[in-house]
Amino acid sequence: MIRTHETTPFNDQKPGTSGLRKKVRIFAQPNYAENFIQSVFDVVERDAGTTLVIGGDGRYHNRTVIQQAIRMAAANGYGRVLVGQGGILSTPAASHVIRKYGASGGLVLSASHNPGGPEEDFGIKYNIANGGPAPESVTGRIHARTLEIDRWLDVDAPDVDLDTRGVTHIGEMAVQVIDPVADYAALMEELFDFDAIRAAVKDGLTMAFDAMHAVTGPYAHEILEGRLGFPAGTVHNGTPLEDFGGHHPDPNLVHAKVLYDLMMSDNAPAFGAASDGDGDRNLIIGKHRFINPSDSLAMLAANAHLAPGYADGLKGIARSMPTSAAADRVAEALGIPAYETPTGWKFFGNLLDAGMATICGEESAGTGSDHVREKDGLWAVLLWLNILAVTGKSVDQLARDHWARFGRNYYARHDYEAIESEKADALMAELSASLPDLPGRTFGPLTVAEADSFSYTDPVDGSVSENQGIRVLFEGGNRVVFRLSGTGTQGATLRVYLERYEPAGGDMDAETPAMLADIVAAAEEIAGIARHTGRTAPDVVT
Ligand code: G6P
Ligand code: ZN
Repeated sequence: MIRTHETTPFNDQKPGTSGLRKKVRIFAQPNYAENFIQSVFDVVERDAGTTLVIGGDGRYHNRTVIQQAIRMAAANGYGRVLVGQGGILSTPAASHVIRKYGASGGLVLSASHNPGGPEEDFGIKYNIANGGPAPESVTGRIHARTLEIDRWLDVDAPDVDLDTRGVTHIGEMAVQVIDPVADYAALMEELFDFDAIRAAVKDGLTMAFDAMHAVTGPYAHEILEGRLGFPAGTVHNGTPLEDFGGHHPDPNLVHAKVLYDLMMSDNAPAFGAASDGDGDRNLIIGKHRFINPSDSLAMLAANAHLAPGYADGLKGIARSMPTSAAADRVAEALGIPAYETPTGWKFFGNLLDAGMATICGEESAGTGSDHVREKDGLWAVLLWLNILAVTGKSVDQLARDHWARFGRNYYARHDYEAIESEKADALMAELSASLPDLPGRTFGPLTVAEADSFSYTDPVDGSVSENQGIRVLFEGGNRVVFRLSGTGTQGATLRVYLERYEPAGGDMDAETPAMLADIVAAAEEIAGIARHTGRTAPDVVT
């Protein structure tokens, strides 16, 4: 029996870069999650009786929302729900399951790399039938619906046992609790040369993987230790916890410092990696060599043909605008197109669907390919392992060889977190207003060549996305980009992306901060960060 619950709109349900993200206490308000989910069900395209995938990163509040979403799906005409056992599905695994089983879409419950727990963050993202995040046309309709919603629907049914695999029914609708790992692991076996990696492990290839008490634990245990033969203990923090052990499950040099310190020590294994709350991001660190995400994209693209899934070559490489241009040089050498999109994985979806790009990546620690429609942390780890196994090179050697051939894009991102929104907005407004005057001006040794607000026209559907970050390009391929984060839940986060290109033959072995010092100084002068925010140093440098 379908029940109709009266409700009134919340005016703060506009999906951000990656779905709706709020504090748990906001999500836990009566009707809050229900309004959003009902708004999704009201506007998305689907036939009656289609399949909905539901999974999350296991964080606090996950199970509550899953149970509610299942009852609501039953009332909204879905024929089947596929849900990961324990409520778990990594974001890339959810994308794969949507595609593999022909679902009309999926709800991914996650706040990615943000902390979890009763006082921390929660999120809901809707993915469409191609397995990717809903594009802006869809999230716009969802948002509009949240502003006028007056009822949500569910059925009166008990909680589903999420911990036992199998099928139950709620009225006409089947609820299938699936193994969250099996389909994904099988896909990885198709793409990568597991035999070569297994042989390298037998020959002494060692690694450490930090699952950060988040969703990739079960995947990493099965794939790395179970199928590839790395010894037990290779996966650290491999049990998902509702509060991620009190940490930020963000694989960067601040939050994965234990791994970083290990990789810089005398006891370092050959290869180190970590993934985030929902398993779509990755951190790559070789023994005594950190690889920044922009370089990782370029190096993976340059060597992808060594993996069976990419043996025929790449169709194109796409990167988000703030990501360094390292990948563009690889595309040029391979004679394939390079695309520059706004921040957010959803912008890659059309390029992947149209077969225009094969590999995509972002500076925010996301890399992936056309195998799913999300970025994929373990995929990046496995491609690295495949390349290391086949070439027999160390990470450091591979990086040095890459830079010797393509030159090196020294790169860093400075984050200023939890700034008052008005101050951040004022900074960006003043910066935008100053753009026409910047070309030709000098800042220390740097001369501005061009300055603009990035706007993107999707080459597939012609849609235009404006105001996607401010770019100041200096002569010689150096650059600073300013952007406000679209994923924060507190105030505003200013991101300053700094890049300096050193051509092949130049200094390939310098320290990044020293190479970027002039650009950091120019960024301060151009944007007045201290003047606007009172901050004299970033909170996080990645
Ligand atoms: C999420 C998206 C990424 C995007 C990132 C940007 O993780 O999935 O595709 O790069 O957000 O975050 P920001 O905080 O910079 O908006
Ligand atoms: Zn994530």
